[in-house]
Amino acid sequence: MDDKTIFYTKDLEIRFGGLYALQKINFDIMENETLGLIGPNGSGKTTFFNIITGLYLPTDGDFFFLGESMRGKEPHEISRKGISRTYQSSRLCLNLSLMDNILIGMYPRQQTGYFTALFKPKKMLAEVTEFSEKAIELLRVFNPELIDKAFNPVGDLPQIDRRRVEICRAMAVEPRIILLDEPSAGMTPDETQELMDDIKKVRSNMKDVSIMIIEHDMSVISSVSERVIAINFGQEITRGSYDEVSNHPEVKEAYLGKED
Ligand SMILES: Nc1ncnc2c1ncn2[C@@H]1O[C@H](COP(=O)(O)OP(=O)(O)OP(=O)(O)O)[C@@H](O)[C@H]1O
Ligand SMILES: [Mg+2]
Repeated sequence: MDDKTIFYTKDLEIRFGGLYALQKINFDIMENETLGLIGPNGSGKTTFFNIITGLYLPTDGDFFFLGESMRGKEPHEISRKGISRTYQSSRLCLNLSLMDNILIGMYPRQQTGYFTALFKPKKMLAEVTEFSEKAIELLRVFNPELIDKAFNPVGDLPQIDRRRVEICRAMAVEPRIILLDEPSAGMTPDETQELMDDIKKVRSNMKDVSIMIIEHDMSVISSVSERVIAINFGQEITRGSYDEVSNHPEVKEAYLGKED
């Protein structure tokens, strides 16, 4: 661990019914990096995201963000502090517009509530205007073509644009860390390439954001990650550059298949 570390876990473990889904996990995320997490189906990748976003309470161990323990904190607290995510299966409201879906992501940052809406409507309106402008700005950074579609229902969009909206929504809380759970799932190779270009653009435009990305598609991992960690059966196998990790014999056997 060095002074660029903004997040780390300490012997993090979780058991379900006596079986370890994650064991002795000591991961770290550094400032401004894109970190890949790979591993076969059921190896514990999503479970890791579920713990560090407060959905699951670890059975043992702890995790720290900006020096503070996050163990036991509620998902909305963790999100407000600056860790946000996308889900493996889409969680968009398909009948709402792109704009509305992104505004939902800003909810943890909202200052005004029912009281303000009733008694200080101008203050409420100012916040809504500010959030709407921020949402448009996010779309501009991510993919300007989405601005023209901002008021269309998300359900009318192709898969790739839906993923983009989900990532914009995760960025709406102005996070320091964005966790992406298999963003390329269900997309064609061309769409995957486009999405990776967008993700790289976000990284170069938003200097203080770190990304941790779970992916099955090794070409995605090799194109976006500066560092990779491989797990299997809930335990770390190895970590390093993409080349180091993908050439590790256990990774080859466990993840890429023996014939590779
Ligand atoms: N809520 C839960 N209750 C019981 N077991 C669970 C729960 N969540 C995860 N598990 C178990 O933990 C293990 C890891 O699951 P996880 O979803 O993290 O895998 P994954 O690496 O994300 O796999 P995939 O690549 O298929 O998404 C699996 O054996 C799974 O059945
Ligand atoms: Mg998963």
